[in-house]
Amino acid sequence: MSSRSLKKTGSMPKISKISLYLILIILAFSGFIWLYLDHFVRVNTEFGGAAHHPIEYKMLVTHGIAAYFFIFLFGAIWNDHIKKWFKIGKKNFRSGVFMVSTISTLAISGLMLYYPTSDEFRNIVSFIHWTLGIALFATFLFHAKAKIRSIKS
Ligand code: HEM
Ligand code: HEM
Repeated sequence: MSSRSLKKTGSMPKISKISLYLILIILAFSGFIWLYLDHFVRVNTEFGGAAHHPIEYKMLVTHGIAAYFFIFLFGAIWNDHIKKWFKIGKKNFRSGVFMVSTISTLAISGLMLYYPTSDEFRNIVSFIHWTLGIALFATFLFHAKAKIRSIKS
């Protein structure tokens, strides 16, 4: 790839780029909606008690499936985007490195949420996971801000 087209595309094929935006939005919003429902919403059951909203579980399933696609895309951009720009350094470097560390921690903490050893431990991991998730989403918007600005104008 010439240096001109590397600069133009951010060395990322269009399909990876669009899929990344899409999957990250699904991942983040399924997480945000789950958080809102889990913390603030209960529905009445036919037995007079309160239960979690049925959408809450569906959001978790959507999130778990999106996480698989996200890790696949992360691997897909590893050589052409991450390693290439990492070697060049400077532009977007700090936010990029932060995202790589956050994504790795999210993937590991996601597995810990699947296979918890106790409820108490799961609650701690859950808190760390969604806090980092929010940080990842905000950093991603910052990282891709030039592109997002050009779409808006
Ligand atoms: C060490 C890690 C990373 C570095 C050094 C890095 C570097 C860069 C640079 C320099 C750009 C601007 C490209 C341009 O102006 O054409 C960019 C854009 C972008 N990066 Fe990264 N990046 C890293 C990690 C990541 C990760 C982990 C993701 C996704 C999870 C990501 C997604 C993007 C996206 C979507 C764009 C906007 C591309 C576009 O729409 O044209 N980057 N990155
Ligand atoms: C984009 C930002 C993200 C946000 C806001 C977020 C948020 C959340 C939330 C709120 C939960 C539910 C926690 C609980 O059950 O106690 C969750 C679960 C989970 N997350 Fe994320 N997350 C994000 C990114 C990721 C990433 C990048 C991965 C992995 C690559 C991931 C994998 C998982 C897994 C595997 C679960 C457990 C699903 C289950 O128990 O069925 N998440 N996430």
